[in-house]
Amino acid sequence: MLRSTALLLVLSAAAWAQVPAFAPASLDALFDGRAPLATAVAKSDRPSADKAARDTGLEAWLVRERAVALARMRANISPAGAAPGAVAASPSHEEPNYWYHWRRDAALTMQEVVGLYTREGDPARKAEYLGMLRDYASFARKTQAAPSPAGLGEPKYEMDGRPFTGPWGRPQDDGPAEEASTLIALAAEYLKAGRPDLARELYGDASGGIKAGLEYVSHRWRQTSFDVWEEVKAHHFDTAMAQRLSLLEGAWLARTLGDPGAADWYEAQARGIEEQLKRHWDPARGYIQTALDRDEGLDYKASGLDAAVILAAIHRRPLDEAVLSAGQNAFFSPSDPRVLATAYALKRAFKAGYRINQGDQPGTAIGRYPEDRYFGGNPWVLLTAAFSQLDSMAAREFMQKRAIPVYKEDLAFFADLLEDPADRAALRAGVVLTPQDPLFTKLILGLMRDSDAYLARVRTHANPDGSLSEQMDRDSGYMTSARDLTWNYASLLSALEARDALREGR
Ligand code: NOJ
Ligand code: NOJ
Repeated sequence: MLRSTALLLVLSAAAWAQVPAFAPASLDALFDGRAPLATAVAKSDRPSADKAARDTGLEAWLVRERAVALARMRANISPAGAAPGAVAASPSHEEPNYWYHWRRDAALTMQEVVGLYTREGDPARKAEYLGMLRDYASFARKTQAAPSPAGLGEPKYEMDGRPFTGPWGRPQDDGPAEEASTLIALAAEYLKAGRPDLARELYGDASGGIKAGLEYVSHRWRQTSFDVWEEVKAHHFDTAMAQRLSLLEGAWLARTLGDPGAADWYEAQARGIEEQLKRHWDPARGYIQTALDRDEGLDYKASGLDAAVILAAIHRRPLDEAVLSAGQNAFFSPSDPRVLATAYALKRAFKAGYRINQGDQPGTAIGRYPEDRYFGGNPWVLLTAAFSQLDSMAAREFMQKRAIPVYKEDLAFFADLLEDPADRAALRAGVVLTPQDPLFTKLILGLMRDSDAYLARVRTHANPDGSLSEQMDRDSGYMTSARDLTWNYASLLSALEARDALREGR
């Protein structure tokens, strides 16, 4: 299977190389669905692109790395010695011990598997992905039913499905929301395949299944919980974004399956969450505050800057485009000026903060938050991939809108993407760039270059066999902490999918 996946990629890389050189004057024509615009744009810019984007070695590495990521991600799903459907965060058993099924990591990984399932054309491989998803759904149900200290907010489980009962930051309320979203995506596939019976089974009721997750989320969101990094009990932007999305997707599923009362309730709660989310924008600091109303946990995160905000912006799915209205889908989306302003503030902080970002290596290695001390506070692979994904997704949104509005909040983010000082000087807040404007093209190209530079940065620090640990040492660049982090591979696959979608004009 891996071999043919790789082959497919080689072919599309070859096809990519055949796209004729492209003059910006004809950019507009390409918008009319006649050619994958971004592909042409990327090709045209090759002579002026920076080292990373021009580096054909990166393309070749990405082809190989995609196969590695797929194989190593799969190896951690239902691994030997675990219950079927359990997803190990990493095969590492000590320093750190990640041999657990984290609700969050598992949900985000299996969300990627839903995407692989959807896009797969080969029936045998499709069936294989489906088997993985069914096992995951059964395992998730088993964890829901197991009595645990924090109910569905319980963050991690033994690989046989028993809750981990030692001291831990709990509850973690992003997990149940992400789990619900992944199962809803699977239910949507069942519906597409004409199997409402299977979708209904997954939906379940208030005592088990998707609905039990949505009930937990819809009744819990006003309370504080521990964040994605398991360190601070507060109202978190990322958690609330995950809760909101699961409720909107859940409302769609509930309505589709004939449970309109629940659908109304979930939608109303999602609207309430939106009001809370808007409080996180901090106009004085010019970025989104990750946490508000802290009441427990670490107290030294003074900046409030956190890459979790970027995860929140990119965690949206193909399903959302089908079932959410444009307005719902645009909520703190990757092209939102507040999101881009936050991304730029983070990039600057990490550029200055890590020694490995001081040299002439491509891109910027991205960490969790500037004050991080876990394992010495290093940049993370999955977050560096997330920044690549953000660029691709933002570019795709601008292409679809055929407009790049530049605000004072994200002016610096955009200026940073331009290579020519004259262009930087010409860029102004308050303008809406359209495809006729040369700066539009330059910014799209800049996003693509920046996106690739993050991937090139991951490549720089990856092990020679392509395997990826959780972190990159901030001074030496060597891989450190948990080896073969499952979530890394899912994040990389997801970043590559966003990269493809942009280039193929999907
Ligand atoms: C373990 C958690 O998984 C990690 O995110 C956190 O930084 C450390 N504990 C320290 O609190
Ligand atoms: C620590 C991370 O902070 C957390 O987000 C993750 O869930 C666990 N490690 C397991 O990968």
